[in-house]
Amino acid sequence: MTVLGIHHGHDSSAAIVKDGAILADVQEERFSRVKHGASLPLKSIAYCLKEAGLNSINDVDYISFSNQSNTEEIESVFGLKNESGGLKKTIKKMLYTIMRKEVYISNMKLPIYYPDYIVRDKSKCINNHHHLSHAASAYFTRKSAEKCLIFTIDGAGDKFCTAIWMGEGSKIELLKSYYRDASIGWAYSIVTEALHWIHGDGEGKTMGLAPYGDPSKCSDELDKYFPVFKGDELVTPSSLGQDYCWNEGGSYQFHFDEAKEVEKLVEKYGREHVAARAQKLLEEVVINLVSGWVKKTGIKRVVFAGGVMLNVKLNQRIWNNRNEIGIIEQHVFPNPGDSGLAIGAALLQYYKHHDFKGNEIKNLYGGPAYSNEEIEAMLKVRKLKYHYTDNPSKVAAELLAKNQIVAWFQGRMECGPRALGNRSILMSPLKPENKDVINKWVKFREGFRPFCPSLTYEKKDVYLKDNRDEFFMITSFDVTDEKREAIPAVVHVDGTVRPQMVQKETNPRYWELINEFGNLTGEYIVLNSSFNVMGEPIINHPKEAIKCFFDSGLDAIFLGNYYLIKSEH
Ligand SMILES: [Fe+2]
Repeated sequence: MTVLGIHHGHDSSAAIVKDGAILADVQEERFSRVKHGASLPLKSIAYCLKEAGLNSINDVDYISFSNQSNTEEIESVFGLKNESGGLKKTIKKMLYTIMRKEVYISNMKLPIYYPDYIVRDKSKCINNHHHLSHAASAYFTRKSAEKCLIFTIDGAGDKFCTAIWMGEGSKIELLKSYYRDASIGWAYSIVTEALHWIHGDGEGKTMGLAPYGDPSKCSDELDKYFPVFKGDELVTPSSLGQDYCWNEGGSYQFHFDEAKEVEKLVEKYGREHVAARAQKLLEEVVINLVSGWVKKTGIKRVVFAGGVMLNVKLNQRIWNNRNEIGIIEQHVFPNPGDSGLAIGAALLQYYKHHDFKGNEIKNLYGGPAYSNEEIEAMLKVRKLKYHYTDNPSKVAAELLAKNQIVAWFQGRMECGPRALGNRSILMSPLKPENKDVINKWVKFREGFRPFCPSLTYEKKDVYLKDNRDEFFMITSFDVTDEKREAIPAVVHVDGTVRPQMVQKETNPRYWELINEFGNLTGEYIVLNSSFNVMGEPIINHPKEAIKCFFDSGLDAIFLGNYYLIKSEH
């Protein structure tokens, strides 16, 4: 059975599952080059069909959408328009778009050059709840099918902001849902907006700033925006007004009037203290909620998805408090934001027809790869000086040991927001100033934000305290006391790192690079930042990689078996 999953919204994406295996998973921003892009994922769909060896959308068994109802664009492209009751529907949509201050477009019709995605058998198109798609992304990527609680926590989707589910076997059952009076994601994002970072993008910056502040130095005036749970009950709803949506260059930016009020707190108490209090509130709210439900149900296995779960400090806090909370399993889907909805919807539909017995996700390399031949042709046409090597890992490690900034472009692109060694910018973590060096020459981002490391799996206990297997940079850990001084460029101010443990069988070329760097320097760990500059999506194509190479202070770039040295140009 082949299922195509489609998410149309911010972070639009498509994914394809065949016989339980994830063949492709990619978000449209990588093709459109609009970060968090909300356009229809047409190029992503085309890529998924190609990767599955299918010629037509009608060759898939099901098309599984990540929302309860379809957008006007989806209805047009897939030929799903229901002409009956059209007037009522049109008026409803007009009112909705006016309320949201969006532009209403009537009589949408496709240009002739669009791909033919008209679905002949409409019964193969299935709509799913946004939060159920999140729940499925987490549940159907875990090791076992044992009974567990599933928490889906985001800003909002299909009128849910937070939901608790129970998964067992192939079934996911809703236990409880909350709407806007319990939006943990919106509360945190209001603070992000007040700090003048983009809602739905800058939350990682708020989290990165938080350890510089003291939560007690911001008053409890901030607390009313966060819901309060006692046990499994919502005892104090959060105080939120109207949500608005702004479309900036194809990317949705949600925002709230309450951000103005929080901005006053930022002026009064300081940016870092407001961020610190928001982070503390977030962690306490989620831990209270999880503890309450674990106690109520007696279920000790918990899995998570939804954009809030991108907060690695929250995930660490849950892990560190696992005994108090009473949990024995914590699985966070590694692409928990809305770009992970397409794969959630696809897996959900697949397991409606198949037994789920556990299907642990091994990697996130769901995007396009480019062959050596394609790469060389691209280099030739640009008349660049390049070299070939049979062992790029060794050559790159030698440059890293000489403190060079190296771009590493190999194999299939990662889905989700983290670079995991296929579209990465690498540097030695050994010198404290390297954080500033990489910011000054390549990344151009805020100086307080930490960089993350990749390390060989075998050395995890050398660098990380009280760790568990973590391959996707979805949680942070404390660094061991003996290594804190050794790798200063990747240790955050609070002594934590957000690591990727690299296994040889999952990514042999990247593992060899880190291992070779270890043989040269004694430290089996490298600084790994996503291959992009601030504000842009992660690079997909070699031509974008070369453009970034010459637009920045990168010293070298490796593309497949080819490499270029900046000083030779
Ligand atoms: Fe969501």
